[in-house]
Amino acid sequence: MAIKYNEKSRTFKLDAKDTSYIIAIVDEEQFIGHVYFGEKLPDENVNYLMRLEEAPFVPSKNNRNRLPFLDSFPTEYSTSGLGDFREPCLKVTTLSGAAVSGISYLSHKIYSGKPKLKGMPATFGEEDECTTLEITCVDKHLNLEVILVYSVFENLDVITRSVKVKNNCEESIMLNRVLSCCVDFDRIDFDVVTLHGAWSRERHINRRTVTLGKQGCSSFRGESSHQDNPFIAVMDKTATEDSGRVYGFNFVYSGNFIAQAEGCQFDTTRVVMGIHPMDFSWKLENGEEFTAPEVVMVYSNEGIGKMSRTLHDLYRNNLIRGEYKDKKRPILINNWEATYFDFNTDKLISIAKEASKLGIEMLVMDDGWFGNRSSDNCSLGDWVVNEEKLKGGLKYLVDEVNKLNMKFGIWFEPEMISPDSKLYRVHPDWCIHIEGRVGTLCRNQYVLDITREEVREYIYQSMKKVLLSANIEYIKWDMNRQLSDLGSSALPYDRQGELSHRYVLAVYDLMERLTSEFPHILLENCSGGGARFDAGMLYYSPQIWASDDTDAIERLKIQHGTSLVYPSSAIGAHVSDCPNHTVGRITPFETRGHVALAGTFGYELDVTKISKEDRDMIPKQVRMYHKYNDLIRTGDLYRINSLFENSEYNCIGYVSKDKAEALFIYVQVLARPNYHSRRVCLKGLDKNTYYRNEETGEVYSGAALMNGGILIKDLWGDFKSKLVHFVREGE
Ligand code: DGJ
Repeated sequence: MAIKYNEKSRTFKLDAKDTSYIIAIVDEEQFIGHVYFGEKLPDENVNYLMRLEEAPFVPSKNNRNRLPFLDSFPTEYSTSGLGDFREPCLKVTTLSGAAVSGISYLSHKIYSGKPKLKGMPATFGEEDECTTLEITCVDKHLNLEVILVYSVFENLDVITRSVKVKNNCEESIMLNRVLSCCVDFDRIDFDVVTLHGAWSRERHINRRTVTLGKQGCSSFRGESSHQDNPFIAVMDKTATEDSGRVYGFNFVYSGNFIAQAEGCQFDTTRVVMGIHPMDFSWKLENGEEFTAPEVVMVYSNEGIGKMSRTLHDLYRNNLIRGEYKDKKRPILINNWEATYFDFNTDKLISIAKEASKLGIEMLVMDDGWFGNRSSDNCSLGDWVVNEEKLKGGLKYLVDEVNKLNMKFGIWFEPEMISPDSKLYRVHPDWCIHIEGRVGTLCRNQYVLDITREEVREYIYQSMKKVLLSANIEYIKWDMNRQLSDLGSSALPYDRQGELSHRYVLAVYDLMERLTSEFPHILLENCSGGGARFDAGMLYYSPQIWASDDTDAIERLKIQHGTSLVYPSSAIGAHVSDCPNHTVGRITPFETRGHVALAGTFGYELDVTKISKEDRDMIPKQVRMYHKYNDLIRTGDLYRINSLFENSEYNCIGYVSKDKAEALFIYVQVLARPNYHSRRVCLKGLDKNTYYRNEETGEVYSGAALMNGGILIKDLWGDFKSKLVHFVREGE
């Protein structure tokens, strides 16, 4: 059993693949203490790690110093108002206005498998993969139950956590914060890594030292955001891509979040993760329960790289669902950068005709096909085909595209409403707003209050009508602004604080309904580029548009940062035209293909207008995609060099699980004068296997390729790239 309870030491030992996580019940007051998280340990009593024999001692020995005890005790779940002044996970206010809580152990259960989280995304696992521990704690004074839920993945270094809070009190209570995870590490000598950015610069890596005080990232923008990603890792200061202890935390949620490492007074570090308490409160009536979303915790004893590979395996196998979970995705061509709003049936068919000849498999019609939309100023909410633009209607267009042996995909932005729309004219109160206050526009649009049943129903039915009207096999679900003016006309005053979380639940509800009713549709998530690139979304959509910045060189950083957490199979990446529309850079078509290959792969250009030379390269790139996509989608990712460390080149590799095949993608960002070749040591190969370089026919051992390396030569000029493919000798 991956989770054991030892009656004598009163400890729970959770054993994942190479990881142990230990929790103890402490003192007669039954505090729930954190003992250990890290490398797998034998079954032994290591409760001394909690330092309970030192001052200020447990309250049964020294009650005059209860407060200092609470302020230093390594807890499994921090509460507020009694003396633990580090970051609290739980804050509860009673009708009397008191905001004090404290929990102690009541009971526990251990069972095989992993429970679902109602209405929310979560990783899943069979009974023979996962074991779950539920520790029920109580605040006797409040008559509140807090259930700490842990699931262990036995074949991965993964432990997940979530929390349920149940009000058994006669009166209602107000939850002011319910974070999902707290780990008190007994050390402060960590570095912390988070992912930050902006529109077009998503998920750049930020590494710094954990110091006294709080560091991390957060969002209260209503979505996980371009600016911050719901991920944090603390690690040995000496940890590298390939060595050192790394603890990664990722939130399976798409809304407001906090991810924080707090350096504390006794050189400990508290890591917390959960729904951001800003813009959150939840009224809990007698008998009601609130469930906080899931946090995935990963331990790696081989640096950041192994943490990523563990997360990739988990997400590919135990989070992503649906028909495309393990399937190669069709190569698509999206018309956004090709035409923006300026298209009609003929234009789209001309793109599809040319694209189909080149081997492209799906046409995606982006923004601008509905209402009167010819710019981003109007029509969101009016999901009715604009037949002036699409002469003959949608079905005609889709049928024509299908006749070319291509699939057809369509863009929606379901959560939004334009003030200039039929919908707004009829239902001006359907957006999130505060009565009497002028709403804050962004991209000239408001956010629909989809927490209201009738609004959600309207949106779903309008989408459904479009989807049933033609053979649509892909949806790009976009979301182009963040939430503001938080007010819902459907919620009473004391539930307005629930809006942000209810909003995320409503998005999940819509996506669950859509993917259940249209299981054959490939759903790609998007939010003004990559503002909702999170594990929550991966539960519904196996791929997410990573960024509106399609420049190959910018993408190296974006995709590298994204790959810290999320698998390449999920990273939406396209070849676009040059000069690049975001940065004006000119890069070779070949390099653009090599960079997009490390994602889902597709095109975002007018294939009828690009140069013949570029167009002629597309069939070769299509063959390249079909040749390597299985390896890229299912293999192990090894990051060899990144632009965050060295601005001259980038190199990543994919190695098949059986180590029989490997592909390395090398991009020379800046050419170096008087420098004839660069030696690059490969990673992830089997040192005892002999590999043949497919291009040169040379055969070397994995040991030589990893320790001696390969020589990259003959790349003339900036932004040049190269693929190096190895197969096991004899295959
Ligand atoms: C933002 C997306 O990221 C783009 O790809 C495109 O779909 C536009 N929205 C359309 O408005």
